[in-house]
Amino acid sequence: MRLFLFMMLLLFSGKLVAQETRIAFGSCANQKDSLFIFDTLQKHHPETFIFLGDNVYLDNQNKDTICLKYDSLAHKSAFQRLKATTPILATWDDHDYGLNDAGKELPIKELSKIVFLDFFGEAACSNRWKHEGIYDVRYIKQDGLTIQILLLDTRTFRDSLTHFNGGPVPRDTLNYWPEYSPNTSISSELLGEAQWVWLETQLMMPADVRIVCSSIQFAHSFNGYESWNNFPFERKRFVDLITCTQASGVVFISGDVHLGEISKSEIDAGYPLYDITSSGLSMKWHAPTYNLNRIAGPVMQNNFGLLTVKRQNNIPTLQFQLIDVNNESQAELSIPITDLQFK
Ligand SMILES: [Fe+2]
Repeated sequence: MRLFLFMMLLLFSGKLVAQETRIAFGSCANQKDSLFIFDTLQKHHPETFIFLGDNVYLDNQNKDTICLKYDSLAHKSAFQRLKATTPILATWDDHDYGLNDAGKELPIKELSKIVFLDFFGEAACSNRWKHEGIYDVRYIKQDGLTIQILLLDTRTFRDSLTHFNGGPVPRDTLNYWPEYSPNTSISSELLGEAQWVWLETQLMMPADVRIVCSSIQFAHSFNGYESWNNFPFERKRFVDLITCTQASGVVFISGDVHLGEISKSEIDAGYPLYDITSSGLSMKWHAPTYNLNRIAGPVMQNNFGLLTVKRQNNIPTLQFQLIDVNNESQAELSIPITDLQFK
């Protein structure tokens, strides 16, 4: 009887009630726009919001101009309301790195990093100040689950892109003009060696779920724009690293492309690799892009991503949604974490 009363007490105090963890994410927020989509996002009370890049459109190498553009975002009322209620994590893409489609050659990347980390209030003791680039790891622990959040830096170390040269998809297969073809040099780099070493260490740390935050898409098929497909050796290296480290629970989230979609890679790592692309918070694209790996979408209206981690039949499950400004879910995927484990 005493045990029964104790259990009832715990139940009503919330200790035995399985909790949900909500993580919102998004990309491509032009500081000139209203960004009212942040108000829709807050209705879901996420534990954190992850900015996946193109968080502000700098496209400039002058320090004063860069600071003014960040100021413009800081003074947006919708952003202020988001910041007041929701912890924000961030990585960058090209436009907040400094220049459209830029890589390691960008002269102002150190300045850009300082302004970025200052703006997002990076702690003085953070490792991000100590190494080159802005990659980082964070953890959320709730309801007995460890969620690892890997913030990649896909800009600071990235080699030159290869302009479209007719492959791997013939020009007339696409109903638009592609910009890039894969860089077929075996030595071509996207993450850079130091980030690869760091990533391997992180993948060996214990976690139930690993959210890989990549500004550019990972699991879609070639579409002629910027993505991991432009560095096929680096993409394969990532898949091989997951397999070698036996890192379960990996799922990618990405942005950049001004549309939302969910992709399932044509290659797996011992289990399927999914990529939930949310873009843009305020930017839009005029037509769907080519993607043979798309399993949901495309979502052509402004959207944010929402990951809800909850137990279904006592199995922790990842529920992904792409939600528009009217709070309507436009694409969904539910993944039991048992599907992201080596058999
Ligand atoms: Fe971008």
